[in-house]
Amino acid sequence: MQHRFFRVCLFLLALFMVLPLAIASPAYAATDAYVTRYLRVTEPVPLALDEQGKTRLFPADEFAAGKQLFERNCLNCHVGGATLPDPTVSLSLADLQGATPRRDTVSSLVAYLRQPMTYNGTEETFWCRQIPESWLSQAQIESLAGFVLRAAQTAPGWGGALFPEK
Ligand code: HEC
Repeated sequence: MQHRFFRVCLFLLALFMVLPLAIASPAYAATDAYVTRYLRVTEPVPLALDEQGKTRLFPADEFAAGKQLFERNCLNCHVGGATLPDPTVSLSLADLQGATPRRDTVSSLVAYLRQPMTYNGTEETFWCRQIPESWLSQAQIESLAGFVLRAAQTAPGWGGALFPEK
């Protein structure tokens, strides 16, 4: 009898340990609350691919995937879209637009991430994290860039909230 009670307890314990993992798993990425609430994406939204006005539709689950890549690989330095090692070069839309060349399209962001450059575009920079193709595929890096761009366009406080004195 005691033995069975022990087994039920173990089962419940395991259940409560596994539940949060299941909720956070990628299978649920499509319902990411940040994406619906702060990126305001439920239906696919168009993002500029290049300066010529070409666009592509990004669905909610792609933003969720991009957000996960961002959290895993960029958040340490870019929490909330700020740039901790250099707050003057944040991921806000204004800063992305002010760079040379501008970094406010998916392809220009991808180009930057494949080879980060200084803000005036004259030299390579070693401060940001370079993403070779062997690490993130074209599709993955576009999801990441799409997330950054949409966050810069719509997420409240993105890129500046931490440094109001900027
Ligand atoms: C080790 C810290 C660090 C990590 C990790 C990092 N970055 Fe950066 N990032 C920086 C710094 C510092 C700059 C400014 C570099 C410069 O201008 O010389 C920067 C600049 C940028 C810019 C240009 C912003 C602008 O206004 O022009 C983008 C876009 C960017 N990072 C995206 C990312 C993404 C996406 C990731 C994750 C794959 C990432 N960074 C990871 C430190 C980091």
